Amino acid sequence: MAKIFVDGRQYEVVAEDNLLHACLSQGLDIPYFCWHPALGSVGACRQCAVKQYRDANDEAGHLVMSCMTPATDGTRISIADEEAKQFRAGVIEWLMTNHPHDCPVCEEGGHCHLQDMTVMTGHASRRYRFTKRTHKNQYLGPFINHEMNRCIACYRCVRYYKDYAGGSDLDVYGAAHNVYFGRTADGVLENEFSGNLVEVCPTGVFTDKTHGEHYNRKWDMQYSPSICQGCSVGCNISPGERYGEIRRIENRYNGSVNHYFLCDRGRFGYGYVNRKDRPRQPLVRRDGSLVTVPAGEALARTTQLLKAARGIIGIGSPRASLESNFALRALVGPEHFHDGHANGEAALARRVLDILQTSPLPAATLRGIEGADVVLVLGEDVTNTAPRVALAVRQSAQGRTARMAAEKQLPDWLTEARTNVGQHEKHPVFIASVAVTRLDDVATHTMRAAPDDIARLGFAVAHALDATAPSVDGLDPAAMQLAERIAAALSAAKKPLIVSGTGAGSAAVLQAAANVGLALHACGQKAEHCFIVPEVNSLGLALLNVGQECCDLEAAFSAVERGAADTLVVLENDLYRRAERARVDALLAHVKLIVLDHQSHATAAKAEVVLPAGSFAESEGTVVSHEGRAQRYFKVFAPRYNDPHSVIRQSWEWLDDLRERTQLSAWRYFDRLTTAIAQALPALRKIVHAAPDAQFRASGLKVAREPHRYSGRTAMRANLSVQEPRQPQDPDTALAFSMEGHNGTQAGTRPSALIPYAWAPGWNSPQSWNKFQDEVGGHLQGGDPGTRLIEPAEDEVTARYHDAIPVPFVASAGVWQALPLAHIFGSEELSARAAPIAVLMPAAYVALHPADADLLEAGENSTLEVSLPGEKLLLPLRRRSDLPRGTVGLAVGVPGSPWFAAGAPVKLGKGSST
Ligand code: SF4
Ligand code: SF4
Ligand code: FES
Repeated sequence: MAKIFVDGRQYEVVAEDNLLHACLSQGLDIPYFCWHPALGSVGACRQCAVKQYRDANDEAGHLVMSCMTPATDGTRISIADEEAKQFRAGVIEWLMTNHPHDCPVCEEGGHCHLQDMTVMTGHASRRYRFTKRTHKNQYLGPFINHEMNRCIACYRCVRYYKDYAGGSDLDVYGAAHNVYFGRTADGVLENEFSGNLVEVCPTGVFTDKTHGEHYNRKWDMQYSPSICQGCSVGCNISPGERYGEIRRIENRYNGSVNHYFLCDRGRFGYGYVNRKDRPRQPLVRRDGSLVTVPAGEALARTTQLLKAARGIIGIGSPRASLESNFALRALVGPEHFHDGHANGEAALARRVLDILQTSPLPAATLRGIEGADVVLVLGEDVTNTAPRVALAVRQSAQGRTARMAAEKQLPDWLTEARTNVGQHEKHPVFIASVAVTRLDDVATHTMRAAPDDIARLGFAVAHALDATAPSVDGLDPAAMQLAERIAAALSAAKKPLIVSGTGAGSAAVLQAAANVGLALHACGQKAEHCFIVPEVNSLGLALLNVGQECCDLEAAFSAVERGAADTLVVLENDLYRRAERARVDALLAHVKLIVLDHQSHATAAKAEVVLPAGSFAESEGTVVSHEGRAQRYFKVFAPRYNDPHSVIRQSWEWLDDLRERTQLSAWRYFDRLTTAIAQALPALRKIVHAAPDAQFRASGLKVAREPHRYSGRTAMRANLSVQEPRQPQDPDTALAFSMEGHNGTQAGTRPSALIPYAWAPGWNSPQSWNKFQDEVGGHLQGGDPGTRLIEPAEDEVTARYHDAIPVPFVASAGVWQALPLAHIFGSEELSARAAPIAVLMPAAYVALHPADADLLEAGENSTLEVSLPGEKLLLPLRRRSDLPRGTVGLAVGVPGSPWFAAGAPVKLGKGSST
């Protein structure tokens, strides 16, 4: 720590910080543009000038850029000094000479860092009277608008996009007095994290195109603290709503999870909430068709079906909350509850849980991943299955430059110096995957192989680290050499990390990764591990079912086939995405089907009753991330306020009603249900701590979901009634559907799990998260949201080495092994229903190594006949030399792609060629 003096007052700050960072962390305001907590300092904009004094006797002082000056002990500065203020005013004036001053029509207006800094600096009138420089804008794809005239040349965008996110198609171009930030030509931005430009750019150059299509000012939207449903990472989000529509998703800071950044699936994939074809009223089958009925009638019909049933099965969902799954489990009985994962996936998720619960290694937070100095990625294409983890792994590789800079006593934040010292040096990242991955550019070494061979490599690494780990018979010399090289790097690391997951559909890969972790622990290494699971609440379901028999869909199929059940209740799940079409057809032909969901799909189309459920935006719930972090999301809006015909209710509310009708008992309130889960299931007892309960009050107030400047409330429902109704009440949470309540203008803070949107006096942009952090860029005050349910078993290590080492994969003539190929855009069910995501998702395809394709005489532009168990279809061929011989790659989940079990045998036949 260091003592510094700012305008005569003494502060204790982190000595390694720069002065800007240190002052912001103390709650002081200094305007800035080019500095960003995640990007460091380059000293480009000159906006952060302060006066620095040599010592207590120095009265003249000199101007310094606070972002480029270390906060060393005894430093004396003034922010309020008149010369410093004049300098900052001059800087903002020249930055604004070419700025269009188009705030009234600029979509950044109201959450613009440039506006905030202009006001903070006191620049209020314009003296420049001449022609402004203008630029042409570019088409950058379905996510982002480009308006280059607003640029102030702070360089944050290219520093983020190229240096931080690893993109290569956005850059800065200069000619004469023109500087241009964009692409060489119009085109879709290629990087999967491009949406963060919207928040990184301090002005309105890059804005959210999906928001622009139904635009509102920041202050005119209603928000809630929420969790992205796009994958198992559980990034924290702040969705904004008006008129019953989600209008944008912004990052919600969590210092242990996503920090400042989301992936594009999470940011732009919200459109499914707004779809017109969503069920909003209950549907009941009459004369073969589904017809709309009142809620009472739908509940009566459902009750009748349940009471008349000769056996009921409940199929839950890894995309539904713990509360809704538990409510279904309670309705049908634990022994009749199936967790709704695809066949095989439930077992894989359970295996991950078992590893996390028994291993001495902690599950890495995203911050932990960024701090790793050697990473082994075993079998997982993280960019496509858990994108934010990939961005974190990229930072771990780049951490090498920080270490090299530290060795030369250069501060971490001095970005250019750090880059010059580090050049292109990276921390080692080893990637073994079935095909190319988007992280390969930071990899020290990549290996592409079938899952069994990837597992064999992992087992060999473990054995090379610890000779007591099972050895691998018959490993080829190249793989053996690679295993030894990886083991040497891992054992020399200070913070080694193993990343794996269920993406390859292989239990052997998971076991191999677990063995590497155990071997590192045996060597005395402080390693961490990270296991990706299929969906947002896959790990929650595994925890919900601890102690139960394996309960995937196959178990449900057999129960119906043997006549043990004739009625099926399906929660937020389209079974056609989880099993072979023919089997689902056969299942649904023999049962009375009740579906609760917020989307229309093939399963719902076959139901007797469809109960319209709330999406994440109309529900509260708890989900457990891949890290084992239980996190709570809250309703963004009450659906009936803007649509009086809506009968949308949360799934758990429908199920609670049915439970009351059939079992004469109900929870009625969300907290009671959460408490019931915690009491019933020891593995989930800590979920009550994921967020404060409904009784919590901040300074005696509920937390307002709407900013205090929210406008139009008296008129916004005038098309329905000129009377303004009472705001919807929310008995289930400590949040209010109103601008009345604690909104940051009162004394006292809101707990980190209850911050709906980022705003602080004078700070309207996302940079206002500064005001909620214990140290800028660190953790949120009072601790990051969520509670970890699984901590490592360091004292009592129960895990043992796995020894089920697979034999080498051998291509067999005429039968290919199915490989799941995930896509960030398209493989996840809900985001794929959002229009901008659909634009970028691939059409279904079959991928083969060119040599295998030649065996079938299938050239470019061919189609192949793909025969899977129960299904035969024609798909266009992609010839891919990165795929292992003898395997066939199929896109996971994209429309037109069949469901298939990973590793299933596939027969291929000639289709056609054009
Ligand atoms: S486009 Fe935005 S982030 Fe990039 S240099 Fe201009 S103002 Fe800065
Ligand atoms: S990484 Fe996953 S949780 Fe995070 S924003 Fe992307 S889809 Fe959402
Ligand atoms: S923020 Fe310090 S020079 Fe830009």
